[in-house]
Amino acid sequence: MSLLRRTMDNKGGGGGGSDPKKPTAPGGGQPPTDKDAEARRQAEIARRKAEMMKKPGKPGEGKDGTGDLKLRVQQKLLAELDPSMDISKKDEVREQIQVLFNAILAEENMLLSRSERDRLFDAIVADILGFGPLDALMKDESITEVMVNGPKMIFIEQKGHPHLSGVTFDDDSHVMRVIDRIVAPLGRRVDESSPLVDARMPDGSRVHVVIRPIALCGPTVTIRKFSKVPLGVQDLIKFGSMTPEVAQFLQACVIGALNMVVSGGTGSGKTTLLNVLSGFIPNDERIITVENAAELQLQQEHVVSLESRPANLEGRGEISIRDLVIACLRMRPDRIVVGECRSGEALDMLQAMNTGHDGSLTTLHANTPRDALARLEVMCLMSGMELPVRAIKEQVASAIELIVQQSRLRDGSRKILNVTEVQGMEGDMITMTDIFEFEQTGFEKNKIVGRIRPTGIRPKFTDKIEDAGIVLPPTIFGIGRAK
Ligand SMILES: Nc1ncnc2c1ncn2[C@@H]1O[C@H](COP(=O)(O)OP(=O)(O)O)[C@@H](O)[C@H]1O
Ligand SMILES: [Mg+2]
Repeated sequence: MSLLRRTMDNKGGGGGGSDPKKPTAPGGGQPPTDKDAEARRQAEIARRKAEMMKKPGKPGEGKDGTGDLKLRVQQKLLAELDPSMDISKKDEVREQIQVLFNAILAEENMLLSRSERDRLFDAIVADILGFGPLDALMKDESITEVMVNGPKMIFIEQKGHPHLSGVTFDDDSHVMRVIDRIVAPLGRRVDESSPLVDARMPDGSRVHVVIRPIALCGPTVTIRKFSKVPLGVQDLIKFGSMTPEVAQFLQACVIGALNMVVSGGTGSGKTTLLNVLSGFIPNDERIITVENAAELQLQQEHVVSLESRPANLEGRGEISIRDLVIACLRMRPDRIVVGECRSGEALDMLQAMNTGHDGSLTTLHANTPRDALARLEVMCLMSGMELPVRAIKEQVASAIELIVQQSRLRDGSRKILNVTEVQGMEGDMITMTDIFEFEQTGFEKNKIVGRIRPTGIRPKFTDKIEDAGIVLPPTIFGIGRAK
């Protein structure tokens, strides 16, 4: 008779009754504020790194009592648990685990305080039903990113700052089990022959996995958490990322159907800004979005969202962003929104912009508006079409009308640094002019102080905005008042 059955018989099937309390705070605390804290942090990092270098011992040999105990209880539990049970019925499974857990502790004569017991139980349930140590981090809404660099070094981002979290995995294989749990339902596999996987978790969070031998520090997972309520224009104004004037101008540009590019580094807030800009598209227009992993959350009625797909295990069936851009041109779009241009699709996008699909929006990876143009040219070359550089430049100059440069600054804040008009060609150069520019006035209490200001130049495309029935007051551009 199984331990579960025996226990159920003895207790009349009642659950363990202890109401597991919420997971303990996962964060390793706030960023250090003084030298002591910094020294402690360094010592902790050194300790964890040393732990990772150690050869894994047999269960029972380790010094870390709780990790060991957990492994022992978990192994017993898994041996007893009915393998055919339906994991999707979480409450039932959890109840079964609770009964077995209590029985195992009693049988092993393990004396634990209530909080130790609850913690152990939560950790075991998270391993069996969820994403193990990552569960608590995924639930904590103040955490925006989770970065696993091998089993012991798990960093989190809170309020724009990365720091070491308080949670760890037991070892490499523990991380691998959680990785499998994340990617298996998506029909993906991570192993030595395919050590790189990009996927989306059930809650919409994006996850990227790299394992050995490519990642030297052990299984490496990067999770960009999906925020259920995306940041809106008011949030961006409140955070100082833009001013109400910039917001009003950008809204007019979107309604006026200008072709716009959001440029910025990784994690600088491009997708967030693209989402805000797309939100300005009038409700009666048909919007088609093309993304690698669906992140945009548009509120309009008439939206078709397309998501690219990597090749399957046999290397077939890939649908690239480029395929989707081409497909969406046949779907009668009023607006095309491409999550990010990385490669040859840029050329198709530019051609679409130049052939009547005005008001298209995209993002790309570059550090200045000038770099963004250079990046676009390179991406067009990647399309495989043998166009002369001059022709590509002309395509870029006539297609793109506005570049919004987003940046994550060294104080962790994310700001718009330039709003730049692309004007045309002069000789071999594409000419551009800043309409708004960020001006830093100081650095106080580890914060950058400054404001994005109009340059006093009115864009050449003002007519287009006026054609859409919008009249922007000259003061928005810093004309007619002290700047
Ligand atoms: N202006 C902003 N102020 C504060 N946080 C922001 C801002 N824009 C984006 N974020 C946050 O930064 C993270 C990365 O943003 P995202 O738009 O995905 O960046 P990117 O697309 O450039 O990689 C997200 O967690 C997002 O909520
Ligand atoms: Mg993005």
